[in-house]
Amino acid sequence: MSTALLKHFLTRRSVSVRHMNEPTPSETELKTILKIGARVPDHGKLVPWRFIVFQGTAREEIAPLLRDSYVLEDPYATEAKLDLESQRFMRAPLVIGVISSPRESKHPLWEQQLSAGAVCMNICHATHVLGYGANWLTEWYSYNDHFKEGLGLEDQEAIAGFIYIGTPSCTNEERERPSLSEIVEYGGL
Ligand SMILES: Cc1cc2nc3c(=O)[nH]c(=O)nc-3n(C[C@H](O)[C@H](O)[C@H](O)COP(=O)(O)O)c2cc1C
Repeated sequence: MSTALLKHFLTRRSVSVRHMNEPTPSETELKTILKIGARVPDHGKLVPWRFIVFQGTAREEIAPLLRDSYVLEDPYATEAKLDLESQRFMRAPLVIGVISSPRESKHPLWEQQLSAGAVCMNICHATHVLGYGANWLTEWYSYNDHFKEGLGLEDQEAIAGFIYIGTPSCTNEERERPSLSEIVEYGGL
């Protein structure tokens, strides 16, 4: 068993979007990240998710939609606040939106949504293994109807997350984890 891989799983931390810079994954690395993202358990082979990739100017082009969407959150927002909110995707060189896209199926909706969560986590792991930082965020816009419509989401779709990706300018401190005794019980009499 690879000790490097084990170390990765035991130490991986999200990187704050405040500390995410260039360089960004190459096109080849991005394809690897997306391939690993799509390599998740998917009951019934429904492919109940899809990706929207924002990099380069696409991050700025989304600014007017973020700005208009924020008005729904706060109709009294100042121009300065609207400017700030419109720049959310500019915080990292690469942002991958993971859209939960459930199908009509005998397989439960819940399972299809869980699969989208697994996609997000796989993208985070792949990104870190390639030497970059990642952070899985939803923030206000993932739940904003104007934003979702502007992004082209269908009614049954939802945003599983936006994975912000870049090169970390500093390492995060360890975060407290639950002790196993708090969360594990062993079945049997
Ligand atoms: C579905 C989902 C949405 C999240 N959205 C946010 C968010 O909007 N803002 C935030 O600060 N953290 C959010 N987080 C938390 C971060 O992704 C991350 O869990 C946290 O920074 C620490 O993660 P780590 O222990 O893997 O480093 C979200 C996590 C999940 C699973």
